[in-house]
Amino acid sequence: MAPVNLAGRRVLLIVSGGIAAFKALELVRLLRKSGCDVTCVLTKGGAQFVTPLSLQALSENHVYQDLFSLTDESAMGHIQLSRSADLVVVAPASANLLARMAAGLADDLAATLLLATDKRVLVAPAMNVRMWSHPATMANMATLAARGVSFVGPDVGAMACNEFGAGRLSEPPAILAAIAALLSAPKPLAGKHALVTSGPTHEPIDPVRYIANRSSGRQGHAIAAALAALGARVTLVSGPVTVSDPAGVKVVNIETAAQMLAACQAALPADIAVFAAAVADWRVTGAAGQKMKKTPGGAPPVLDLTPNPDILATLAAAGPQRPALVVGFAAETHELRRHAEDKRRRKNADWIVANDVNPATGIMGGSENEIHLVTAAGIEDWPRLAKDEVATRLAARIAQAVT
Ligand code: C5P
Repeated sequence: MAPVNLAGRRVLLIVSGGIAAFKALELVRLLRKSGCDVTCVLTKGGAQFVTPLSLQALSENHVYQDLFSLTDESAMGHIQLSRSADLVVVAPASANLLARMAAGLADDLAATLLLATDKRVLVAPAMNVRMWSHPATMANMATLAARGVSFVGPDVGAMACNEFGAGRLSEPPAILAAIAALLSAPKPLAGKHALVTSGPTHEPIDPVRYIANRSSGRQGHAIAAALAALGARVTLVSGPVTVSDPAGVKVVNIETAAQMLAACQAALPADIAVFAAAVADWRVTGAAGQKMKKTPGGAPPVLDLTPNPDILATLAAAGPQRPALVVGFAAETHELRRHAEDKRRRKNADWIVANDVNPATGIMGGSENEIHLVTAAGIEDWPRLAKDEVATRLAARIAQAVT
């Protein structure tokens, strides 16, 4: 294997509990050999398997262990610690730490750093085969992947617990290769600004009621993360969603279509615009300022609706401010291709990402998507993929188109 050169790069290595923690020592040695600066954080569980002294001797840096340590805090606060590295690596990542990451807990130093970081995160899981294949761990992995976390391993093989299967920590040279790949990954969108809309909009009826739709924001958020991973500066204008904010992305939270349009216009100029939000087509004319009351025996209110501005069409017609590549979405339940092609022309979009949102497809609000990419050159049918995989491929296509 060619020697890896990571001179001048900085890795924050989080070592959590598990018998595989001993391999972290070899990983630190390899990272140092490559010229990389390594700072280690050891969880309580990790400290059962390796000592801070070993990590400190190999990394030649202070090892951080406590969230509320006066000496650690005076050396470097946890927010700064989480952001001063080029990459955060978790090796080994226990099932427990994966679950805490997925849940967004900040109950120790490692989890707090992972929540506070704005850097890419590489995770090398290690656990018993049954813990690895448990649906809870699989769901946690899917959640983290959708947030843009990268993974290496686990490997398949014999385990310390005498079982055989997937769950072994990847070997240190493989983890080093994954670190080198992430640190040297090409950033074709560096210097470009991408605007992404995501999620539903909420259109008030009165102060407590609103009109909404089933959009989860998963696809739009994954696209924002994938564009950021390629080096773009990303502004994500999001309606109300429960998915978490992607790392390294500026998020502007809005509720209504009118607010989304204003936020998008304020974000211009942009080189790329991806309108993945499911914007409400109508808002209630003159929404009530006070909660509408039921009157016993009274007639139900009739809602008068006003069309919302079309954000995609407005920005695609923004003259000199028009982003160089405008991508819209088309959620259709029938005649998908015809409607999508029609929408591309009518709204002056460059591309339309069309998907079938018939309830039977499970796409709207689900974790997978099957898209048809409509461009001036024709229609490409993509296979059914996880939404983050669709996002990664779409971001790569966008990078080809604008560079
Ligand atoms: O017309 P339709 O809602 O099907 O168009 C879908 C595309 O247009 C999506 O990209 C969506 O984000 C965008 N759109 C918008 N503003 C609207 C309605 C739709 O940006 N008011």
